[in-house]
Amino acid sequence: MTNQEGQARFEIGKAFYRPQGQVVRDLGVLAAAVYRQDTGRLRVLEAMAGCGVRSLRYRLESGADELWVNEGNPEILSLVRENLAEVVGLGWGRVTQKDALEVFFDAYNRRDFYDLVDVDCFGSASPYLSSCLWATKIGGLVYITSTDGRTVAGKQPEKSLAAYGAYARSHPAVHEQGLRLLLGSLQREAAAKGLGIAPVFSLFWAGTYRVMVRLVAAESLTAANYGFLGYCHSCGNYQLVSWRYLGRVVCGEDGENLVLSGPMWLGWLHDRPFLTRMQALAHQWQWPERVTLLEIMAGETDFPPYFYPLGEIGRRGKMDIPKRDYLISSLQNQGFRATATHINPQAIKTDAPIRAIVAAARQSSG
Ligand SMILES: C[S@@+](CC[C@H](N)C(=O)[O-])C[C@H]1O[C@@H](n2cnc3c(N)ncnc32)[C@H](O)[C@@H]1O
Ligand SMILES: [Zn+2]
Repeated sequence: MTNQEGQARFEIGKAFYRPQGQVVRDLGVLAAAVYRQDTGRLRVLEAMAGCGVRSLRYRLESGADELWVNEGNPEILSLVRENLAEVVGLGWGRVTQKDALEVFFDAYNRRDFYDLVDVDCFGSASPYLSSCLWATKIGGLVYITSTDGRTVAGKQPEKSLAAYGAYARSHPAVHEQGLRLLLGSLQREAAAKGLGIAPVFSLFWAGTYRVMVRLVAAESLTAANYGFLGYCHSCGNYQLVSWRYLGRVVCGEDGENLVLSGPMWLGWLHDRPFLTRMQALAHQWQWPERVTLLEIMAGETDFPPYFYPLGEIGRRGKMDIPKRDYLISSLQNQGFRATATHINPQAIKTDAPIRAIVAAARQSSG
């Protein structure tokens, strides 16, 4: 049976393909199309292609000029070749079966750098955080996945130390923490090469973490954008902790000890002007759900690096769970910044401290 997603028609056979993951591919396709508009070219290296649906869509929808489609599993190679047969036949690309690491270093060896390197791996992304950069053009994009939810959620801090060089602790905003650990590691790997990373977008979707970043020539890692997130389990407040202040860390609200997670990326989650252009394209292509998602993502871009779940606010205030939009308006009316977050529809991002949030929730509940 032939399947269709976007403009791609393909067979699935024994390949890993989740139709629900279309949102992840849609955002990748939109970003690649915007990049193609900007630069006039798009050479894509997809290192872990599964059935090859992404590569087909990068060609048909983003206008990729050239594709290198790689899949490590020999059992599905003939399927990938069949799905990509027309693209390859017309000279738009090639299909290989190698380990992803070999692909990245082969590209580097030949000084064959790509505009978009897509790494849709299972589990931890850590083996690829440095290696994928070797195949990426400066100014080009990397789109990488992590499905390793437990490690970034503070359940296995020793594992996160090994994977990200960061100690991840548990708190209500761990799903944002997963994105920030990935971004922080990419930052550090780029910095070690004398380069930098600029986040394009960060997406938490169905328990998985996806970041698209741009590799840039200027170093971008600083003590201000790469540091620690503190959480006070006593009062529920978050606090950013910079390297110089590690020796005197207590909650600014009640003086209690904080649990510290990090280091991680504390800067912006997305490139807002780029998101706006992706949104315009999604509008043009009549993808209303993606327009809405990109709107929420754009809104949360420059907020502090955490969020407050509504259930947690209700629990802290010993009251019913507050209504999100009501609470956001109420905080805004008091002069705070507040917005929804794509990471959790039942949460808010705000610069208000927890006691102001609880007070606002109490007021808005009546
Ligand atoms: C999550 S699936 C890819 C799904 C596909 N990108 C999509 O959007 O439908 C991951 C794929 O990577 C392949 N893979 C896993 N480890 C690999 C490695 N080290 N090198 C190359 N391919 C690998 C698996 O066989 C699997 O097909
Ligand atoms: Zn506190």
